[in-house]
Amino acid sequence: MARIPDAFIDDLLARSDIVEVVGSRVPLKRQGKEYAARCPFHDERSASFTVSPTKQFYHCFGCGAHGTAISFLMNYDRLEFLDAVDELAKRVGMEVPRDTQPRSAQQQDDSRELYSALDAATRFFQKSLEDSDKARAYLDQRGVDEENRARFAIGYAPDGYSALKDALGKDERRMKLLDRAGLFSKNDRGHVYDKFRDRVMFPIFDRRGRVIAYGGRIMGPPDDGRDAGPKYLNSPETALFHKGRELYGLWQVRQANQKIERLIVVEGYMDVVSLFQFGVTQAVATLGTATTPDHAELLFRNAPDVFFCFDGDAAGRRAGWRALESVLPRMKDGRQAFFLFLPDGEDPDTIVRKEGREGFDTRLKQATPLSQFFFDELTREVNMATLDGKARLAERARPMLAQIPDGAFGDLMKQQLATLTGLGAKPAASAQPTRAPSRAVAPTQRRSLVRAAIAILLQQPSLAMTLEGHHFNGLRLPGIDLLLELLSLVEQRPDISTGALLEHFEGREEQESLHKLAAQTLPGEQAMWTQELHDAVAQLEKQLLMQRLDELQAKHRQQGLDDTDKYELRELLKARATLR
Ligand code: UTP
Ligand code: MN
Repeated sequence: MARIPDAFIDDLLARSDIVEVVGSRVPLKRQGKEYAARCPFHDERSASFTVSPTKQFYHCFGCGAHGTAISFLMNYDRLEFLDAVDELAKRVGMEVPRDTQPRSAQQQDDSRELYSALDAATRFFQKSLEDSDKARAYLDQRGVDEENRARFAIGYAPDGYSALKDALGKDERRMKLLDRAGLFSKNDRGHVYDKFRDRVMFPIFDRRGRVIAYGGRIMGPPDDGRDAGPKYLNSPETALFHKGRELYGLWQVRQANQKIERLIVVEGYMDVVSLFQFGVTQAVATLGTATTPDHAELLFRNAPDVFFCFDGDAAGRRAGWRALESVLPRMKDGRQAFFLFLPDGEDPDTIVRKEGREGFDTRLKQATPLSQFFFDELTREVNMATLDGKARLAERARPMLAQIPDGAFGDLMKQQLATLTGLGAKPAASAQPTRAPSRAVAPTQRRSLVRAAIAILLQQPSLAMTLEGHHFNGLRLPGIDLLLELLSLVEQRPDISTGALLEHFEGREEQESLHKLAAQTLPGEQAMWTQELHDAVAQLEKQLLMQRLDELQAKHRQQGLDDTDKYELRELLKARATLR
């Protein structure tokens, strides 16, 4: 995939106005230096959503949603990163650079042709359904009505080995395209024939409503002796289709809902179709795979609440656990995950037919929250009456909890672990044997110095330009590398906005805490911040000096100093003398 240079993103954000981008979608009210609105990402009566023209980013104090003009488009219009960049570039009349223009234009043409081949195949399958009494009878028997046959573009791939090939494979080029779309198989002798034969076809749509693959179901019972192959046959991975990244039904969910409050993840094609038919229009299915981290991201990008629905048996609980593992690193504040296990022998299709939409909704309301499922599963195998069991629980839980992004949810989970085990929430920091490099300043004070400097830079990045250099590279303090990185970003781009600065940390673990700092309004005003920043940097430089002195003195005791060491020591002592 074409990677867009950081400098372009910076430029794009510098030329875009987030107030305009957000304002054209959400009514904004001016409030002092900022704009406010009811948050478009969660339900609320008061306006806790703010957009800052000076920082060029948005933040919701209610649900924690935040980001730049790019992330707003991703979350609000539900665009992929590249599409959001395109959209924004169009607004301000910029051309998005792609590394290899000619090749990627060629690729674009290729995929356009692939989409159109798949579209033709889908229409062929739909037409064949109309012509097949048997296939229509099957869908009747499974209770799929006309509206949903159309909504999901369900079709039928005729029996025989060349129905599709005969209908659409008119020339060499078309044959090649259909082959690349995954619609053919080849035998040992190289003979090409239809991959899907005598199957009901469920097209899989991408985020823009284009067909990219299929699942095809046999109509008889799975093992009727005719060697009909697997119950569901899926398209192979192709240039357009990666099954770990797609969700069956997501396009239809988006079409049916203005705002998606929740998504329900089920296992099968038919589950999605039946739920829709009974009015539950927020169901999607993974395509015969476990829930991947890509799925988890896609799910939460579309809805704040995600319900995972599984069989109640051991396999279902295992699948649930794997889904939990995929979502944990994505459990930012404002997001919730629930687990719903169905009675033995049932799936959402059979349940919703028996109990209707109300029955299914009732089950959703009673679904197990992630936190409960997490601790239930982990305590299942240990004896919580013993110290040993509690220790074992803590040992298994901690690395998993560490994956939860900073925020209230993670804190609550850690508290819960502490309550269950009677052990401290965190191993005490002071118990660590490593000696601090310098005893000059207490650790808490030191951390807050770096934090203060970072907070000021996020408040007004351009203040970095008032510094005449900074010399604390190599200082061993938490956050120091981050501070250095921020300083160097501003030095490269003196006019960078807070939002654009944050964009550089997209996808990195520091992002969350940077956003929180950036969202604060620092007390005081520019002159005060400038002074504070200068003081902080001076302090850090002094600490580096002390750190280096400590190191040289330690070396002196252990192995003695060579000439350059001695020279450096003298210089450091001189510098220290001027500080006092
Ligand atoms: P199930 O076997 O639970 O099927 O597979 P189902 O959805 O209840 O189907 P019906 O009701 O019998 O029609 C769940 C999902 O696993 C994948 C499919 O995505 C299916 O929807 N699967 C299953 C396959 O990919 N291949 C198979 O052979 C079976
Ligand atoms: Mn089923």
